[in-house]
Amino acid sequence: MKVAVLPGDGIGPEVTREAVRVIEALDLGISLQEAPVGGAAYKAHGHPLPSATLDIARDSDGILFGAVGDPDCDALERHLRPEQAILGLRKELTLFANLRPAKVFKGLEDHSALRPEVASAIDLLIVRELNGDVYFGEKGFRTAPDGSREGYDIMSYSESEVRRIAHVAFRAAQGRGKRLCSVDKANVLETSQLWRDVVIETAADYPDVTLTHMYVDNAAMQLVRNPGQFDVVVTGNLFGDILSDQASMCVGSIGMLASASLGERQTAHGTFGLYEPIHGSAPDIAGKGFANPMATILSAAMLLRHSLGKSAEADRIETAVGKALEDGVLGRDLGGSAGTTEIGDAVLERL
Ligand code: NAD
Ligand code: IPM
Ligand code: MN
Repeated sequence: MKVAVLPGDGIGPEVTREAVRVIEALDLGISLQEAPVGGAAYKAHGHPLPSATLDIARDSDGILFGAVGDPDCDALERHLRPEQAILGLRKELTLFANLRPAKVFKGLEDHSALRPEVASAIDLLIVRELNGDVYFGEKGFRTAPDGSREGYDIMSYSESEVRRIAHVAFRAAQGRGKRLCSVDKANVLETSQLWRDVVIETAADYPDVTLTHMYVDNAAMQLVRNPGQFDVVVTGNLFGDILSDQASMCVGSIGMLASASLGERQTAHGTFGLYEPIHGSAPDIAGKGFANPMATILSAAMLLRHSLGKSAEADRIETAVGKALEDGVLGRDLGGSAGTTEIGDAVLERL
């Protein structure tokens, strides 16, 4: 079993270190290969996703990814910016299905931005499309009709892109509460009208799943009004990006939400994928030692489950995180005082 470890920038290396300690403690004979990515790779090799890094990623059974993003690089041409590394990996490796589960751990109800009785009902999965939408359309700058500057990014989805993510979402719903809510903006956008039509067509294959539709503005509101109503949510790249950050605060903190990005490629042990916390490189707290590594540790659990066929070990990691939280091991993001390594230690002890 080969895992590529791409720590990246800012708090990326800090949180990845703790997840690696957890993987190593399980002693599963996994070979870990680290490679530079993001701003760190740009500074060392002149490119945010060096071909050697991409090769290591492609050659692995799964990728553990920290975060990319560096304020020093914000003025670079877009293709050289750190963020292009994660976009490039998702696109090059056809990782089109991003699973972002959000569940309130016992003991965290009082740390949500929502009232405890509202927060405690949250157990949802956001299935975010990752290879299309406004992220990957034609973009650029041009002159507007009035002579002023104009920026543009084309939003589009092909039928096949929608259909393949819809299948993933319906299958995920079958394995959970059998309810799927498709989130779009079909009242305004043609991209969303096609999305909705194709999701409805795909539903014919899944008669046991109840499908509903919601406009994204309402979904943002419902997510804080009554998040317990959602089981699986399927949505496009941009809406899914925004709604998942919002969902993270509903369960307590952005430092808690893990993710898996999957495609269709199978490995010897499961499905090839990339695993990362949903948060970024957090330059405001980088190097201070109090980034919460739980989202990355939980991402490592998803890696074991989906790519390495180690479900029991994945369960063990999630249980250990849950126990640490129940015992009051909380990072500053959750109103506690535990530092990054302290949280890692606490999870390891309970493992
Ligand atoms: P961010 O997620 O990095 O940080 C947002 C806020 O949440 C900050 O106040 C930060 O301190 C806090 N935070 C994030 N993770 C935390 C953790 N584990 N523990 C405690 N607090 C945490 O978002 P941003 O500030 O908008 O972006 C910073 C950089 O990260 C940008 O360059 C952005 O492009 C990049 N980014 C990368 C990824 C990725 O690599 N997948 C994801 C999001 C943002
Ligand atoms: C995420 C991030 C990325 C995204 C950025 C860094 C490209 O926000 O993984 O959620 O928008 O997908
Ligand atoms: Mn995001």
